[in-house]
Amino acid sequence: MPLRIGILASGNGTNLQAIIDAIENKQLDASIEIVLSDQPNAYALKRAEKHHLPFRLIERKNHPDKKSFEEEIVKNLQSKKVEWILLAGFMRLLSPFFIQKYSERILNIHPSLLPAFSGKEAIKQAYEYPVKITGCTIHLVDEGCDTGPIIAQEAVCIENDDTLESLTEKVHEREHQLYIKVLQWISDNRVEIRGRKVLIK
Ligand code: GRF
Repeated sequence: MPLRIGILASGNGTNLQAIIDAIENKQLDASIEIVLSDQPNAYALKRAEKHHLPFRLIERKNHPDKKSFEEEIVKNLQSKKVEWILLAGFMRLLSPFFIQKYSERILNIHPSLLPAFSGKEAIKQAYEYPVKITGCTIHLVDEGCDTGPIIAQEAVCIENDDTLESLTEKVHEREHQLYIKVLQWISDNRVEIRGRKVLIK
């Protein structure tokens, strides 16, 4: 049975696109049950529409508080029987209420080698520091910001002639490959979570 995933995205959705492509090319045994966004202009929603995937805009401003906003998201995920939730450029911190509902079933992708350069503009932070090696991380979401158990990381070298733009491109390309790899591991039941340590079997 394909892995039933739900994707939360606030922006461009290139990670979403990479997952759509991998499923369509039969490189990944998963099905996108729903794409949700909190941003009306998120290009991720257009990508979902183009590929005939169920999608919905759920805006925080239309809810009296964060709990009811998140309840609406959970309701949509549950109605599609989503097993794993993927954050792909979702620009909001989820509350303990949400995280406990999907404990150890929420993935996030971050454009640095965590715990270095957590938070916003991670590629720029690494470029300006400057470090010689940065990369991307896929981790389980816990109640902190970019602090959950790490599942996989990929390194990207910063070369002499890299600009912020060229580095961003390299990190994004690596992100897309890594998300597919991790999802296939999960689909193949190869990921074992032992507290903060995640084993790939
Ligand atoms: C990615 O760099 C991801 O690591 C970060 O947000 C960005 C989303 O890009 N969390 P996209 O919307 O998938 O193109």
